[in-house]
This record gives sequence, structure tokens and C-alpha cells, in this order.
Amino acid sequence: MRSLIDITDFNKEEIDGLISTAMDIIANPSKYAEKCKGKKLATLFYEPSTRTRLSFEAAMLELGGSVIGFSEANSSSAAKGESIADTAKVISCYADIIAMRSPKEGAPLVAGLNAEIPVINAGDGGHCHPTQTLADLLTIYREMGRFDNLTVGFCGDLKYGRTVHSLIGALSGYTGIKIVLISPEELKIPKYVRYNILDKHNMPYEETKSLEDALPKLDILYMTRIQQERFTDKAEYERLKDSYILTAEKMGLAKEKMAVLHPLPRVNEISVKVDEDKRACYFKQVLNGKYMRMALILKLLEEKALDPVNRLSFGDLPLDTTNFKCNNPKCITQVEQELPHTFKCVDEEKGIYRCVYCEKKSTDTF
Ligand code: CP
Repeated sequence: MRSLIDITDFNKEEIDGLISTAMDIIANPSKYAEKCKGKKLATLFYEPSTRTRLSFEAAMLELGGSVIGFSEANSSSAAKGESIADTAKVISCYADIIAMRSPKEGAPLVAGLNAEIPVINAGDGGHCHPTQTLADLLTIYREMGRFDNLTVGFCGDLKYGRTVHSLIGALSGYTGIKIVLISPEELKIPKYVRYNILDKHNMPYEETKSLEDALPKLDILYMTRIQQERFTDKAEYERLKDSYILTAEKMGLAKEKMAVLHPLPRVNEISVKVDEDKRACYFKQVLNGKYMRMALILKLLEEKALDPVNRLSFGDLPLDTTNFKCNNPKCITQVEQELPHTFKCVDEEKGIYRCVYCEKKSTDTF
């Protein structure tokens, strides 16, 4: 049985397979209308969502299945203190597959380790958001016709922007990718993305504060919202919230064939006037997300039918549960009862260990 917790759980061939399925769903929707008849998706959303939750629900309904779930923690027994591990065991008695969003980093991994059914990470804190990445990849494929040899600019909140972390992870599987990181100093990409993905895969990248300087070289511009809900210092949010605003005038600096992506929701970082530009792809991205989530549900349920027993585990990953403590206040280890602080070795030579749940080093700043 497979789950999708991190985009790197799937290799390039598997992602290509999901794209092929999604393209076939687009071409032949009636072929898929009863593929999940009798199956139930549970959407467990401990954090607000419009696109992800409703596209998962639409995806399951269009596959002929049905949906149960909750859309806020307070309407579930989480409000009474029920753990993620217990919730996952309980939902396994009612549903065939789970999509979970949580403000706690690593919560979907805890669910996957405890559920008897596949678990999909629908966004965990500022950590990752692999199914948004699937939407992003289908959009890149449909707009650009390729994944190789692209210069991709990420602009805005690269620190808390979980969709950025996951998309960079996915792009690490392709050749000729150049990354341009556009952010204020305070919102630069986290160290684990820098070291575990960019450096590990020798991905060329540059950092700049200037959107205007970066725009002319980009094939893809991935705009992001400054994530108000993740800031502990509200004054810092107020200072940074208007760091980047993409306007119709600035689009004049970009290539004729550049594609503008944004995971949405947007606040003010893309002027609504840009929506009229043929390079604005963010509403197409929303629709692509539904098709990719349909393909993902099909894949995970097919894999469960082939291997119904073995649930997610750490396998033979070398782990340390005695020497390190995770001090990330947003990590699931801070709230989940008796969950051992578990670290994985990511660099044997340098002796670097990171939390398996949130990927922070115990000494990292957040
Ligand atoms: N892109 C995205 O995750 O949107 P929602 O927060 O509305 O689900």
C-alpha cells in the first residue's frame, strides 16, 4: 500500500504516469465515471482550504465514489484532544483513502504510519504540499510541453510557502532546470530545501530580491502569497506583506511565452489586471489540480488492491530516536502523545540529522 506524504515518494516515471492518466481523464471523462464506485474518500482538514478540499471531493465524485470528512478541527474530536494517530486508525474503519491537511508539520506522515488505508498529504504547515505540485506539474506540461530545460522563478514567501518546497523537490528529477529564488531576506528558502534538494541534486540556483531583474530570464514565474497565518511576529508580516506585486506593466519585462503560476489563494501579489494576460495560468492550474487528484486517487487505490496489508513505514532508513530533540514548535512531535523525536541521517559525512516529520535540524532556526 502506498501513501503520498512527500512529492519525492513518487519517482519521475510515476509522476509521468499520473500525468498520462490525467490527460486521458481530460480526453475521456466518461471512461472514469464509475472507477471508484463504492469507494469512500475521507477529507480530514484541520486547516482552511477551498481548492484542495473541494477538488479532492470533486475528484472522488467524478470517479463515482463518495466523500466523508470535516473541514475544521473544531468540528472533529481533535477539539477534545484526539491524536492524529488515533484519528487515522478510526477513519480506516470508515473510508478507503484519506486526504489530510494540518497546520502541524509531519501530521500526514503520522497518519500514514497509523492508518490501514492510503493517506495523502493535502498540506502540512509550512512544510510541503505534494498534490499542489501535481497540479503545478500538469500545468507546466500543458503550457510548456516539457519539464526539461526550464528557468523557473519562485517569488514571495519561500520560507513558509510549502508549495514552493514541494515543486522544487519535483523539479529535481528533471534536467536543465535553473531555479531563481526571489524573496526578501526574511523569507528565503529553508535550509532543508537548500541542502536536501538544491545542493544534493546540483540544481543551479540564484537568489535575488528583485522581481524586475529576474523576470526577463524566466520560462515559469511561480508567484506566492506572503503566508500571514505562519508568522509569529505580526509586525514582520505587516512589513513584508507587499514585498512583491506582479502588475500588467511588469509583465512587459517577461518572455512572450512565460507562464505565470500561483497555487492560490491570491491576496494582492498578482494584480487582477494580469488575469487578462494569456500567460496567466493560475485558474487553469486549479482545474488541472482536480484531474491530477483523480489520477492520484486511482493510483493509490489500485496499489492498495495489490498490497492491502503493508502500511507506510520508515523501512530500513537509519533512524536515531535518542540523541536529538525537535524544537520546531510547528512540528507534530510537539503535540502528538508519546511520539518519539525521530531523526534521519541526511549527510553521513557531515553528520547531519533532520527530524523525519518536519525536516528541521534540532538546532535550525525557524
Ligand atoms: N492551493 C491551495 O492549497 O489552496 P487551498 O488552501 O484553498 O486548498
